[in-house]
Amino acid sequence: MHILSFTDFEGMVEELFELAERLKAGGAKGDELRNRSLAMIFEKASTRTRVSFEVAMTQLGGHAIYLSPREMQMGRGESIADTARTLSRYVDAVLIRARRHEDVEEFARHAEVPVINGLTELEHPCQALSDFFTMRELRGELSGLKLAYVGDGNNVCHSLMLGSAMLGMRFSCASPEGYEPRQEVVRKALELAERSGASIEVLHSPEQAVEGADFVYTDVWVSMGQEDEEQERLRRFRSFQLNSELLRHAPEAKVMHCLPAKRGLEITDEVMDGSASVVWQQAENRLHVQKAILLKLLA
Ligand code: CP
Ligand code: NVA
Repeated sequence: MHILSFTDFEGMVEELFELAERLKAGGAKGDELRNRSLAMIFEKASTRTRVSFEVAMTQLGGHAIYLSPREMQMGRGESIADTARTLSRYVDAVLIRARRHEDVEEFARHAEVPVINGLTELEHPCQALSDFFTMRELRGELSGLKLAYVGDGNNVCHSLMLGSAMLGMRFSCASPEGYEPRQEVVRKALELAERSGASIEVLHSPEQAVEGADFVYTDVWVSMGQEDEEQERLRRFRSFQLNSELLRHAPEAKVMHCLPAKRGLEITDEVMDGSASVVWQQAENRLHVQKAILLKLLA
């Protein structure tokens, strides 16, 4: 079983939430993954994903190996397929953060162990699962709650949209024209929403998107790999800042951000450090939720 998209959590979301809840309450013995190893290939920078997965493995009695493609034979031309075949003979699962989603799919096609997407340009499923866990801690039953996403229709937005669609939530996204979530992801979300009773909307007005929201979420305007577009993006996203003025349209909302944040751009200090912000709870929950995912895949 691979976790490449949020949709790969289909049928196990509630079980993972309950497991993460028990683990957070102190439920791990510490030997659940004894002698198990996780390879972690990071083509891009990471603080939370790398450290939470590595600490999760340690606290469950297993071991994680950080690998940078630059220092692997892959960096000298060994194929993704051969790397996947080889690592499958040593480790019990592979976490990959890659520039191209299709590289993770290619790796998964040739791996004989579970492959976990630790972020690609298309999705960030483990982040989104952990964020829904945080929302559930705050509000209980998720179905019917409104999640508003303001900013770039990026990887994090895609996974949150698919998750909202699966969990029966009301998802409202506001992005500048040309920076909306990808059509194929919106189509998939609409399909899922039909079954769950969720609603999905893609708008261009942040004020309209956040109206009546239970959670308002934002992410950076310039994701890793988009540095060349920085100037244009900063100009186009200027009116999509999550600030206290925008929050006046959603007075009950909790504020979320996957981090890292560019303070003063997509979110103000005042909002990020304000009483509605739950960003540190989100960051902590990555650890508990990664453990649940690892146990589900490996134990
Ligand atoms: N939110 C998140 O995935 O953070 P990192 O890039 O630090 O892993
Ligand atoms: N959208 C951001 C998320 C970082 C966790 C990026 O891809 O850089």
